[in-house]
Amino acid sequence: MDWGLQNRLSRILKPDDDRTVMLAADHGYFLGPTNRLEDPRSTLEPLLRYADAIMVTRGVLRNCVAATTDVPVVLRVSGGTSVVGSDLAHETITTSIDDAVRLNASAVALSVFVGSKYEHETLANLGMLVDQGVAAGMPVLAVTAVGKELEKRDARYLALCCRIVAELGAHVAKTYFCEEFEQVVAGCPIPVVIAGGLKLETELDVLQLAYRAVQAGAAGVDMGRNIWQSDDPVPMIRAVRAVVHENATAEDAHELFLELKQGGHPQLA
Ligand code: R5P
Repeated sequence: MDWGLQNRLSRILKPDDDRTVMLAADHGYFLGPTNRLEDPRSTLEPLLRYADAIMVTRGVLRNCVAATTDVPVVLRVSGGTSVVGSDLAHETITTSIDDAVRLNASAVALSVFVGSKYEHETLANLGMLVDQGVAAGMPVLAVTAVGKELEKRDARYLALCCRIVAELGAHVAKTYFCEEFEQVVAGCPIPVVIAGGLKLETELDVLQLAYRAVQAGAAGVDMGRNIWQSDDPVPMIRAVRAVVHENATAEDAHELFLELKQGGHPQLA
């Protein structure tokens, strides 16, 4: 791995533990003004200092994030579809590597839709992006997306997706947590991070999800709604950090969440 690419990657996956708490806020690229992300600037601003990286589009980055920030950026560069269109899987590359470099991105991210009508196109997008990324020293994060077909998310399918993106040269795979997640990690020679998915019922549920993923070998999270749709997003991201970086149990992290919510300043995280 070339120095520049390795250096960029180490800004996202922290060298002390090779883990990351990435804050996903790219949802608008196909969902529009998502609940509690209507004004990305005000949603993101209090969370930036607790995020190891943020995942956003160039539009949100340029318009809603101060250029003085030092948070590493994972730039969403695929899209071209919407939730009201005919097929979410029909993505193309919407942002050039030149613009990613101009924006000082630490990585670029795209979605692939394995098993969909557009499997070939999205995997070809990945191959092309890896070629361009490697030439520019820019890591590529591949999201194993399922569009509206959430029932697809089992270990056999997700292991297939993660292995394919690794084989095509991605540097990080982003996927969903599932039962027998160890199998997904075992078959994938690159770091795997998990999305949070739809907002879960309780904060403890989210922390258990993160805990189980990390214990099963995930390199952390790339989480959005379960952080910024929480009524207490800052305590939430700090509790997730405790699970990912401090090996806190879900229960201990939940205690931390409750203390932070009440205005406490405990040692952990
Ligand atoms: C989906 O493709 C987007 O890339 C989101 O970044 C991703 O789903 C993670 O966000 P959440 O934790 O809200 O699922």
